[in-house]
Parts: sequence; structure tokens; C-alpha cells
Amino acid sequence: MEQLRQLVEKYQQEVEQLQIQTAEELENFRIKFLGSKSIMKDLFLEMKGVANEQKKDAGQLLNSLKIKAEDKFAELAHLRSDRKSSLQAPQDWTLPVSGKTGSRHPLTIVGNEINSIFGKIGFSVAEAREIEDDWHNFSALNIAADHPARDMQDTFFVQQNPDIVLRTHTSSVQVRLMENSKPPIRSIMPGRVYRNETISARAHCFFHQVEGLYIDKKVSFVDLKQTLYFFVTQFFGKEVKIRFRPSYFPFTEPSAEMDISCFICGGSGCSVCKQSGWVEILGCGMVHPQVLINCGIDPEAHSGFAFGMGIERLTMLKYQIKDLRLFSENDQRFVQQFANETITS
Ligand code: PHE
Repeated sequence: MEQLRQLVEKYQQEVEQLQIQTAEELENFRIKFLGSKSIMKDLFLEMKGVANEQKKDAGQLLNSLKIKAEDKFAELAHLRSDRKSSLQAPQDWTLPVSGKTGSRHPLTIVGNEINSIFGKIGFSVAEAREIEDDWHNFSALNIAADHPARDMQDTFFVQQNPDIVLRTHTSSVQVRLMENSKPPIRSIMPGRVYRNETISARAHCFFHQVEGLYIDKKVSFVDLKQTLYFFVTQFFGKEVKIRFRPSYFPFTEPSAEMDISCFICGGSGCSVCKQSGWVEILGCGMVHPQVLINCGIDPEAHSGFAFGMGIERLTMLKYQIKDLRLFSENDQRFVQQFANETITS
């Protein structure tokens, strides 16, 4: 036992005092103290000669040496040659970039472009929370608790509380804006929205919308048409024509859906417009008087229009993207294709 103790003490000192500075020295240390043919093996063999009643102490002694060597090895891990990056040589972030630069996400590119186009005609950008209460997402917008229009928007509820939802559209931002400011109001509301839809090439449980709201004295449907016409000709090109189809939204009256003439085939029919020559891009209408009242605006003195469109849909049309899931997969090969895109308008 005494012999063993002396040996262990000698090695313990060695472990403590050893100056290791290179990967090679560290590897030699590993072979000597921790490898399959290490001195530990020999020491455990030595234990055979120790009296039975001292075997437990001898085991503990050897273990403490082993732990000491393992700790030292872990501490010096940065020296190991099999590591990909060495902590001793941190990267210099001030060096010029070589090779590829990053790219903006296509939804960011298109979102910025939409903001810029509406900015030219005086629309500011308004944002608000994604977790909403029932009033701002539904009730203030004329969608009462038993209104069938709630079925159109498969809602996610937060913590089984029927009053708290993940917003299903950014119309909730319109409500907040009307509640908190006085006309004239001229804003667009971009943002992420959530609907409990099965994920496929054409649907996702979250996507992005941009809605718009314009409230002032004597705002009419003509203003709505001109504003949207300006937007699509800036976004898709001057040749684009628009048409409106009557529709229904609880918060607008009258309501419409707007189509643009197919900018791919010019209206003659192709796969993008499903041979019809027209592509649906948004919903819109004159703000319902009851919605104005709900938000503290006098419908006798003011009127307004609102519209809403999907940013994914516009992006898919503009760049001919066939699968909605690509936007949220974060695949570099997809995003990198937009590295050279800049805002054109
Ligand atoms: N909020 C509607 C939707 O998400 C879009 C819309 C906005 C329609 C404003 C008309 C007016 O489907």
C-alpha cells in the first residue's frame, strides 16, 4: 500500500506541474495517463498486492489521480488538433468578407417594397401585438361571438382562454389605430398572422399580411380603387389592369375582392392564372359604419376604406414560387437566390 501511495503522489505531482502547450504534448499526456496502455493500468495491477482491508483506500487513491488527469485534459481541450476551431485563435470579425454575402428573406424584400410604395402616397406603417383579445381581432370588427365569419378564420386560442387569440389578421391593428388616433388616418399594417390550417404547398399555420386603412372626410370607393391601382402598377408593372368582384367581409360594406390581369401571360391564359387571365390578390371595402362607431369615430363625419393582402401570395406571384413551405424552411439554397434583389420601386 505504501509503495502504491508513493507512486500515486509522484504522478499527481507530475500532472500538476506538467506544462502542456501544444497538441502533441497534450496527446502524449493523454496516452500516458488516460490511454488504453496508460500508467493507470499498471497502477490498478499493483493493487493486487495490497492487503484486502486496504483495497478500498487504494481504489479511491487511484481514482483521485484519474480524475485529476481527466480534469487537466478537459481544461486543455482547446489545444486538441481534432477540434474544428481553436479557442486560442478566435475569428477576427473585422476581416473583409470573402465569398458569399448574406441575403434578405424574400418576404422581407417584398414587405419593404410594399412599405416603400405606400410610403410614396403618404401611408405610414403601423404595428401591434400578435397575441390579441377577442375585441380587437373580432368583436370590434363586427364579428360577434356567434358570427359565422369566425369559421373562416380557424383561430388559435392561447391557453384555452376563448378571449385571447393569436391574431388571425392584421385588421386588429386597424382597430387599435382607430381607437388611439383621430382621422385623418392613412396607414398600412404589415405583420405575421396565425390560422389553424393544415400545412401544405398552398396553406400554412402562419403567414404575413399587409392591410391598409384610410379614414378622412368624404373618402369614397374611387379613392380605394385609385390607391390599389397605384400599388399594383408599381409592384407588378404599368400594363397591369384591375377588376373588382363583389364579396363579403363583416367589417366592410360594400366589400370586394380585387383581381389583376395576369402579368405573366398578359391575360391570354397560362398556368399561373389557371387559364382565366386574372389573378386574385386582395380583399377590400369601405369601412363598415358600425366598425367606425365601435372604435370611437363618427360615421356621419368620416368615412374610410380598408384592404388586406397576403405577403406570401404577392411574393409567390412575383417570383414564381410554387410552394409556401419554402418561406419557413430556412434553406440557404432558397434564400440565397434573392441575394441580388433590391427594391425596384
Ligand atoms: N382581414 C381580411 C382577411 O384577413 C382582409 C381584409 C382587410 C378585407 C380589410 C377587407 C378589408 O381576410
